[in-house]
Amino acid sequence: MFTDADAAVLYDLLNPWDPGHQPGDAYYNELITAADSVLDVGCGTGAMLAFARDHGHRGRLVGLDPDTAALDRARRHTGIEWVEGTAAGAAWTAEFELAIMTGHAFQSLISDDDLRASLAAVHTALRPGGRFAFETRHPQARAWEGWNRSDPADVVELTHPTGGPLRVWHEVDSVAGDLVTFHGTTARPDGTVLRTDHATLRFLDAAALDALLAEAGFEIDAHYGDWMRGPVTGASREIIVVARRP
Ligand SMILES: C[S@@+](CC[C@H](N)C(=O)[O-])C[C@H]1O[C@@H](n2cnc3c(N)ncnc32)[C@H](O)[C@@H]1O
Repeated sequence: MFTDADAAVLYDLLNPWDPGHQPGDAYYNELITAADSVLDVGCGTGAMLAFARDHGHRGRLVGLDPDTAALDRARRHTGIEWVEGTAAGAAWTAEFELAIMTGHAFQSLISDDDLRASLAAVHTALRPGGRFAFETRHPQARAWEGWNRSDPADVVELTHPTGGPLRVWHEVDSVAGDLVTFHGTTARPDGTVLRTDHATLRFLDAAALDALLAEAGFEIDAHYGDWMRGPVTGASREIIVVARRP
């Protein structure tokens, strides 16, 4: 058995939050440090807010995620509000200076209806003047083409504290319009499969993003194409957005 709790531990092993070494983590950490109240939408195991608290953030920190096992892991960190739920179900009104979605959590919002409801709820949760910062993979970079076990960069071998030595890889099942459906496999090094996780992600372009954000009442402060705040170009792999509730 490789449980949901084991998978949450694996997530942190594969995705350590490290603003000292990861430019994307440093970018978000800077925004969080400057805000007195932060809502982390799709907080997962909570590493981003835990880092901020451990490094002196004294304001209100709230993490929201629908994944029970990830949130259980987040709850190891005290002094932060951990709330189980989806972005669309966020029920705060004008309480936050900053809302964030990291780790491409935004791409988990698949349907137009869910995107609209999620953006409306985040907008309502922000104070006037508050900002919503998130990133989404730029469709032009076709990141899904690297989610393939024949690409050595996709196959990770590591030792899990309770699961022992593991091999993890991805395979794409379908690409339909801007939706990419794929699965991740967690296996023993001999190939014995312990777990398969399926997911669909949406790859919106900047024009579609802007239209949805405007419809929800946001103004766009910035689009960046990289974590050093460079512009979005034909080579950008990310669309990094800062939107503001007027
Ligand atoms: C790849 S993880 C990113 C976690 C964390 N933000 C990070 O940077 O490590 C994506 C997260 O989005 C969450 N998620 C999926 N659908 C969501 C929704 N509708 N609303 C909020 N979060 C959602 C998942 O449960 C998962 O924890």
